[in-house]
This record gives sequence, structure tokens and C-alpha cells, in this order.
Amino acid sequence: MEIKSIGIVGAGAMGSGIAQVFLVSGYEVLLLDQNESALAKAQESIRSGLNKLAEKGKMTIQETEAAFGRLYLISKTANFEKCDLIIEAIVEDLDVKKALFKELEDIVSDECILASNTSSLPITSIAAALQKPERMIGIHFSIRPF
Ligand SMILES: NC(=O)c1ccc[n+]([C@@H]2O[C@H](COP(=O)([O-])OP(=O)(O)OC[C@H]3O[C@@H](n4cnc5c(N)ncnc54)[C@H](O)[C@@H]3O)[C@@H](O)[C@H]2O)c1
Repeated sequence: MEIKSIGIVGAGAMGSGIAQVFLVSGYEVLLLDQNESALAKAQESIRSGLNKLAEKGKMTIQETEAAFGRLYLISKTANFEKCDLIIEAIVEDLDVKKALFKELEDIVSDECILASNTSSLPITSIAAALQKPERMIGIHFSIRPF
């Protein structure tokens, strides 16, 4: 299965950084947060991160513009319907994460991979909320400047 479209839930410190990584790598990114100001802040931070990459000569202006153009800020989980991979980066709370994944499973295709960026919760505990727990993975990112 080819991954083209990536959904990210949570546009805080991790979600905005993860979004930038995937945008730079050529993916379409749909970014969702329950808080509108977090989304606006993430958009600003991604714009600024891309500008820095262009200033450093790591990407051309055209490439950063194309990457920014692949970012979609969304307000409803229903918008994730066509995503191939969804990465959760919300508050570190088991019940809140389980409720989110339960909701996502009803929206996405059977092939869509569901990933949690949790730092401390067992993936199996989060996956227990799913009808198909085998579709769930843990995903961790090391944080360093490009
Ligand atoms: N290296 C790593 O991979 C790494 C490092 C730090 C944190 N984490 C994990 O990443 C996750 C996010 O951490 P962070 O530091 O970005 O947090 P953060 O507080 O900066 O951002 C969390 C965002 O999620 C939003 N949110 C909370 N509940 C939501 C919901 N139900 N639906 C939509 N949006 C919701 C909040 O509004 C906030 O903007 C946590 O699980 C944390 O443990 C992973």
C-alpha cells in the first residue's frame, strides 16, 4: 500500500514538527486540533521552519512553497476519511486517546494505519479500544534541527 495522505491529530509541539517532517518529504498532511489557536500557531511554526530550510539552502523556495501548499488545517475527524496513515499527538491521557482512535476507526478505510506518538502509554492499551487492534502502531520521533 502506498502512503500519500497523512492525518495528524494534535497540532502542539510534536504534531506541528511531525507535520513539517512529512510535508518536506512530499506527503499531503491534514492537521487537526480541537483548539483553533493551536492550529494557527502550528501553521506559523511550519511556515517559519520551511523558510529556514530555504534560507539554509536545504530546499528551494519553490520546494518550500509546494510543501506548504500540501498542508491542510482541518476541524473535523471526518476529513481524515481518505488518509492512509493517521498519527495521534494529543494529550498524554489513555482514555482521551482511546476515545479518539475509536472515533477514527469508524471514519477511515480498513487499510489506514493508526499510529500513536505516545511517550509513555502502552500501545496495546490504546489499541484495545479498536475493533482491529492489529492496525495500530507506536511511532516515535527524535527531535533535532534539519
Ligand atoms: N519524541 C517523541 O516522539 C515525543 C516527544 C514528546 C512528546 N511526545 C508525545 O506526543 C504527544 C503530544 O505531545 P506534545 O508535547 O505535542 O503536546 P502539546 O500539549 O504541545 O500538544 C497537544 C495538542 O493536542 C491537542 N489536543 C488535545 N486533545 C485533543 C483531542 N482530543 N483532539 C484534538 N486535539 C487535541 C491540544 O489542543 C494541543 O494543541 C503526547 O502523547 C506526548 O507524550 C512524543
